[in-house]
Amino acid sequence: ALPRETRKRLTRLFVEESVESTNTFLRERFRQGAGHAEVCLAEVQSAGRGRRGREWQTPWGRSLVFSLGWRFESGASSLEGLSLAIGVVVAEMLESDGLPARLKWPNDVLLQIQKDQPKIAGILVEVTGDVSGPCDVVIGIGLNIELPASHREDIGQSVTAVRDIIPGASRNAYAARLMESLLALLPEFEAEGFSAWQQRWNERNAFKGRDVVILRGDKREEAIAEGVDINGNLEVRMNGETITLAGGEISLRAV
Ligand code: ATP
Ligand code: BTN
Repeated sequence: ALPRETRKRLTRLFVEESVESTNTFLRERFRQGAGHAEVCLAEVQSAGRGRRGREWQTPWGRSLVFSLGWRFESGASSLEGLSLAIGVVVAEMLESDGLPARLKWPNDVLLQIQKDQPKIAGILVEVTGDVSGPCDVVIGIGLNIELPASHREDIGQSVTAVRDIIPGASRNAYAARLMESLLALLPEFEAEGFSAWQQRWNERNAFKGRDVVILRGDKREEAIAEGVDINGNLEVRMNGETITLAGGEISLRAV
């Protein structure tokens, strides 16, 4: 970690009641010429989203929906790696409260609860501009603090929330910790890329050594998940060979 004095400061903190999406809010701030280093929090999102336009459920006042805008002056060498490094920060924060966090490539945070691995958080990194030059990046994190049954029914996978395990957990405290740790992470990531997080990601790999199905468009392929390489790409064994997958349109499912 960088010494405290080299950490960057926030310029604006927006605490909104309702937005379409905290990511969209900060993308608009960038479009207007501001955005770095700003944070947006909201009680509710009317159109919270995951990858490829999928919906992110945000029950009013019970979710931590958090976005941070950051301008990468010399380009963000690997945004795949950035979303993985942020996953590590979220997982380490949950672990410091005793929650057994695991990471699912490329952008999910799960908990290990006996044999189940319900999803507790998701990360959505969006970039405007070309990553090889100066670019504006919005980092969005959705962390379930409390998830009412009515919302769980609408989510087609196993899910959990912090208060399922720690009933009194404070949403504000997690918001503050995320800001602090992201403001430390980003300058370090700008200087060194993903290498400092590779091992920490692999130690928490939810699917290590497990059979998985790789979904690419309409294609389904079976493989054994290994770990991530120095750039944050996932290595899998397929028909006896090691194959490297880069994020984009790929999803993994446990078999
Ligand atoms: P992938 O492996 O492609 O990332 P994913 O199912 O995790 O697959 P994402 O786009 O990352 O897909 O995340 C959106 C998905 O997350 C939704 O389709 C839904 O299944 C799930 N989801 C939506 N809201 C929540 C929530 N509050 N908590 C946990 N999961 C949610
Ligand atoms: C995923 O699992 O695909 C990522 C979900 C990311 C959700 C967060 S909530 C805050 C920010 N605003 C959004 O619309 N999405 C992200």
